[in-house]
Amino acid sequence: MAMRDEARNIIRDLGLTILKKHSPKLPIETYGGKYGDKQIWLQLNGRCPRFGVDNIGTDPSVLNTYIGIVNYEPDLILNAGTAGGFACANAKVGDTYLSHPYVYHHDRRINIPGFDEYGIGKYACYPCGEIAKRLGLKTGVISTGNSLDHTPLDLEIIATHNGEVKEMEAAAIAWLATTYGIPFLAIKTITDIVDGPESTEEEFLKNLNYASKILGEKTIELIDAL
Ligand code: ADE
Repeated sequence: MAMRDEARNIIRDLGLTILKKHSPKLPIETYGGKYGDKQIWLQLNGRCPRFGVDNIGTDPSVLNTYIGIVNYEPDLILNAGTAGGFACANAKVGDTYLSHPYVYHHDRRINIPGFDEYGIGKYACYPCGEIAKRLGLKTGVISTGNSLDHTPLDLEIIATHNGEVKEMEAAAIAWLATTYGIPFLAIKTITDIVDGPESTEEEFLKNLNYASKILGEKTIELIDAL
């Protein structure tokens, strides 16, 4: 997970405790615990000491995931977080999506044969159709980029690849999961409507706590169902 505000309820409600701070230089932390018959390791990116904010986006997430994989060898990687949704796809603030059938990057444009498709990525996700139906969750293609806002070109690329959810980590984590052959799934609760009237940053900050509460509840229901 990227932001502590998104993770707080999950850590509390799963009864996880801090297991490890991985290095004095890197702020990545692992929370862990047994939950039913499952062992959970919750990898948190941690806070950037230079800017005093949580590390977000693709770079810290890949490093965080790598540390999780090599230390704990998980059977499944679940990326939980918040995201933007689209009014044109009927999304509302508070809706929760599971990634299906793939996640990809919308801001890696490399117009050279081979590299073009590499840039977009399109990483297959763990099949979740049945679970989504059972839990009343939406499913959709998740589109990853390193900006909270968007340009007209971002929107064009998102539409081209049928993106329904816009966020900043899933495809990067899915790349590493795919590289290691570990099943990957993302769960994202909507904080803001990308094609709506409000500014993304204001709507995101206004709804972060509300969406994180729902994210926590739905993530635990998902873990129960897996
Ligand atoms: N996280 C929450 N809302 C987002 C958005 N609109 N774009 C990228 N990441 C987000």
